[in-house]
Amino acid sequence: MNDTMTLSQRADALEEKMARELDYIVIKSRLYSMAEGDMSPAPNAGALMKNNPNARVLMGDDPRLPAMPEKPTLMDFFKYRFGPCMHLLQSARHAVNADLPEKMVLACLLHDISTIGFIRGDHGYWGAQLVEPYVDEEVTWAIRAHQVLRFYPDDSVGYDYPQSYITSFGQEYRPDPYIEEDYKRMRNHKWYMSGRQITVHDIYSFDPNVHVELEEFTDIIGRNFRQPERGLGFDNSPVAHMWRAMIRPAKYL
Ligand SMILES: [Fe+2]
Ligand SMILES: [Fe+2]
Repeated sequence: MNDTMTLSQRADALEEKMARELDYIVIKSRLYSMAEGDMSPAPNAGALMKNNPNARVLMGDDPRLPAMPEKPTLMDFFKYRFGPCMHLLQSARHAVNADLPEKMVLACLLHDISTIGFIRGDHGYWGAQLVEPYVDEEVTWAIRAHQVLRFYPDDSVGYDYPQSYITSFGQEYRPDPYIEEDYKRMRNHKWYMSGRQITVHDIYSFDPNVHVELEEFTDIIGRNFRQPERGLGFDNSPVAHMWRAMIRPAKYL
């Protein structure tokens, strides 16, 4: 491919190449294009199909991704959709070692599922929403709160503003006003310490030399995550479509 092509031209060329070679055409959601800084019009299925009239846009499973069971469980999402999750497993083990209640171990295990499986920005809010129908209310609250509380120190538990944030965001960075407002609300909430506990076990959980297996938490998940019988994505819950978006992230409609 030519080096002078813009990112979006490259993406289009790649999509065209795929359409010629494969019997399916991938058309990405607008959110993915914007995340590439690409404001060009949405790809036109009709135009792409002219290059390969036998190809169809994806409406079923995506052959590039691992197949998922018909009734996927939380463990299945960890295995087949979420990226590397050692940080979550380490933080859940820290919570076990600190004798936190099982539901807080689960909160630590799930606190960043949006980062590893869905959307990064506001990951605490998205992650909390994803699990809300299936966990104790306090777990949802704590997951939502952790991303806000991460920006604010608390001497009482020895939590400092993360050095990694100074490195990544710069010395001058200040959280957005809605985060500040949420912090004030969360600071006075009865479950403040639960959100805070996630931040405490968050920070020690980036050790490249510690390996933890997901299966260590099978029983805790079993007792504290209400796995829907029909599978995540197919249980008619208010968030089922969000799980389906992870099963088939490039579904055309
Ligand atoms: Fe987080
Ligand atoms: Fe984290």
